[in-house]
Amino acid sequence: MLELVALISGAGSNLRALLEAAEDAEYPARVVAIGADRDADGLELGETFGIPTFSVPYSRFADRESWGAALSEQIRPWSPDLLVLSGLMRILPPSMVREFGPNIINTHPAYLPEFPGAHAVRDALAAGAAETGASVILVDDGVDSGPILAQERVPVLPGDTEARLHDRIKPVERRLLIGTILDIANGTIDLQELSRA
Ligand code: GAR
Repeated sequence: MLELVALISGAGSNLRALLEAAEDAEYPARVVAIGADRDADGLELGETFGIPTFSVPYSRFADRESWGAALSEQIRPWSPDLLVLSGLMRILPPSMVREFGPNIINTHPAYLPEFPGAHAVRDALAAGAAETGASVILVDDGVDSGPILAQERVPVLPGDTEARLHDRIKPVERRLLIGTILDIANGTIDLQELSRA
């Protein structure tokens, strides 16, 4: 059974889907704690699902490294098998990637390496792309630059707004995230090996 710590910044809709999947006794992963870099709405999922939460507000720290050190202190006692960045809108500092990597994965609302960064859906629309997508990646020191673990295309439709397109991407992200964690648990995906490649 994989023990996961999930990190979020927003509503946590992808996390909710993972928590629902993990209610199935046959699903080989459990979320043991939920953390956030702000007062994220998704922290309420902790109460709903009976999972401890913590918040380490980025705004209270002088720089990324000191924020990361405080966040690592919260994560460490859980000894997670995997950190899941499920809508965390921050880049982890290198010290965290060293400590918890290669067991850190991230979901992203684009078909990487297209449209990395914090505004992937907006950027795809602005570029006039006919299609974008969703990806789950292994986190390395770069910005959305790690090995791709799963991805799928999502078409951009006439009249799409950022919100409408994002709403169609998210269900794909959820399916990919749940499937990727299953593949990691059953050994189909080997994060150690991918991080060495
Ligand atoms: C998701 O689409 C996730 O991929 C994205 O934020 C959203 C969070 O939604 N993350 C990024 O853009 C990271 N660069 P949620 O809080 O409802 O799951």
